[in-house]
Amino acid sequence: MPAIVLVGAQWGDEGKGKATDLLGSSVDYVVKFNGGNNAGHTVVIEKDGKREKYALHLLPSGILSPNCVPVIGNGVVIDLGVLFEELDGLEARGVDTSKLLVSANAHVIPSYNRTIDKVTERFLGKRRIGTTGRGIGPTYADKMNRVGIRIQDLYDEGILRQKVEAALELKNQVLAKIYNTRASAVDDVVEELLAYAARLAPMVADTSLVLGQALDRGDTVLFEAGQATLLDVDHGTYPYVTSSNAVSAGACTGSGVPPTRIDSVIAILKAYTTRVGEGPFPTELHDDNGEFLRKTGAEYGTTTGRPRRCGWMDTVVGRYATRINGVTDFVITKLDVLTGLEKVPVCVAYDVGGVRHDEMPVNQTDFHHATPIYEELDGWWEDITGCRSFEDLPANAQAYVLRVEELIGARVSAIGVGPGRDEIIERFPLKPAVAG
Ligand code: GDP
Ligand code: IMO
Ligand code: MG
Repeated sequence: MPAIVLVGAQWGDEGKGKATDLLGSSVDYVVKFNGGNNAGHTVVIEKDGKREKYALHLLPSGILSPNCVPVIGNGVVIDLGVLFEELDGLEARGVDTSKLLVSANAHVIPSYNRTIDKVTERFLGKRRIGTTGRGIGPTYADKMNRVGIRIQDLYDEGILRQKVEAALELKNQVLAKIYNTRASAVDDVVEELLAYAARLAPMVADTSLVLGQALDRGDTVLFEAGQATLLDVDHGTYPYVTSSNAVSAGACTGSGVPPTRIDSVIAILKAYTTRVGEGPFPTELHDDNGEFLRKTGAEYGTTTGRPRRCGWMDTVVGRYATRINGVTDFVITKLDVLTGLEKVPVCVAYDVGGVRHDEMPVNQTDFHHATPIYEELDGWWEDITGCRSFEDLPANAQAYVLRVEELIGARVSAIGVGPGRDEIIERFPLKPAVAG
C-alpha cells in the first residue's frame, strides 16, 4: 500500500512537476491536495525526438502519464474555467484526460474572489503579499468562514443559490463600499457556476473513498503538493505565504487519506533558492550572482511570468523542511545551473544581531533580520547535463551534494541535471516501499 507524498522544500518552483512526472509512470494515482491554479509546474517531455513543454496549473502533473489516474482532492480550490481550459489544452495536444477525478468536497473559486484577491493587494500597497491574483486566499478564507461553495453544491441549484446569496451579502458590501468596485449579482454567479456542472458531473467522486480502496488493493498513490514548506500557511513565513497547507501533513487533510497510510515523503530542493512575491529571504542576492542564477536557471514564474528572486542554497531552510515534512528522500534539482561558478556558497546558519542560529528563528522579526553564514564550496566547470550516475559528476559537484545532504539531514536520492524527463541521476530508489 505505498503512499508517497511529494513536497517543495523551499518557496516553490523547485521542480515538483518534473519529479512527479518522473514517478508518474510507476504510480497508479497522482493526487493534488492543496492550492489551486496559483501553482505552475513545467514538465518537459521528449516526443519524436523533439522537446515538448507542458505548463500545468490546476491539474496534477501525473496527468501526463497515460496509466495514472489524476485526482483533485478536497483540499484544492478550483477555478472551473481554468480547469476546462487546461483540460481542453491537453486534449488538443493528444493527452488523455478522461480519467480525472474531482472531489465533491473541493471548493470552487467564484469570480468575486478573484476580484477580492486583486483589490485587496492593491489596498495593501507596500504591505501586499504579492499573490498570484487567482482568488486563492479569499476562497480559503470563505472555506474557514463557512461561506464557501463546494463542487457538490453545483448539483443542487437551491442550495447553490442560498450559499452564493450568503457569501455575497457581506462581500458585496465590502466590494462596493470599501473597495469601490462593482458588486456581484447572485444570478450571474449562479449561472456561471451552473454552466460547468454537466461537463464536470462524470468526474465528481468521493475521492477519499477511491483512494482508500486503491491503497487497500495495493495500488501506489502519489500526493503532489502545490507551493512549498515556506509558503505553508502554518509553517511558512506568515503572512507571506499561500493560504493552504503545502507541507506533507496537508496531503492527509487535503485528500482524506490518514497519516498511518503514508509511507514516504519526498522533498524537492532546488540547488539554490528562489522566491516569487514578497517576504523574507535571507540568502537573496541582489548582485551579478543573482542575475546569473535567474538567467541560467530561467527563473521566471510559470504562472505570472514574474522574475523570481534568486539566492544561494539555504540549508537552515532545508533542515527545517526535513523536520516539518518528515522527509525520507530529497531530490536536488537544477544542479546543472550552478556549473561554471568559481565558488558555490551554502548557507549553514544565520547571524541575528550577533547570535548564531542553526535552526529557523522562532520569531519572524529575527528571520527578517537573519544574515546568512556561508560555507564556500569549490565549483566545477564541466557540463553535467549528460551525467546519469552520481559517479559521473565532477568531484566538486559530488562534494556539493554530499555537504548539502549532511546539512539537511536526509538522504539525497536523485539529482536533476537538466529540465528533460531523463536528465536526472537516480542515486537511490525513490520508492523504498515499492522497491522492497
Ligand atoms: P514546480 O512548481 O515545483 O513544479 O517547478 P516549476 O516548474 O515552476 O519550476 C521549475 C523549472 O525548472 C521548470 O522550468 C523545469 O522545467 C525546470 N527544471 C526542473 N528540474 C530541472 C533541472 O534539474 N535542471 C534544469 N536546468 N531545469 C530543471
Ligand atoms: P508552485 O506550485 C511559487 C506565492 C505567491 C505569493 C504567495 C501567495 O509552482 O511551486 P497566492 O496566490 O497563493 O495567495 O500567493 O505565494 N506562490 C507561489 N510561489 N510557486 C508557487 O507554486 C506559488 N504559489 C503561490 O507568489 O507570494
Ligand atoms: Mg512552479
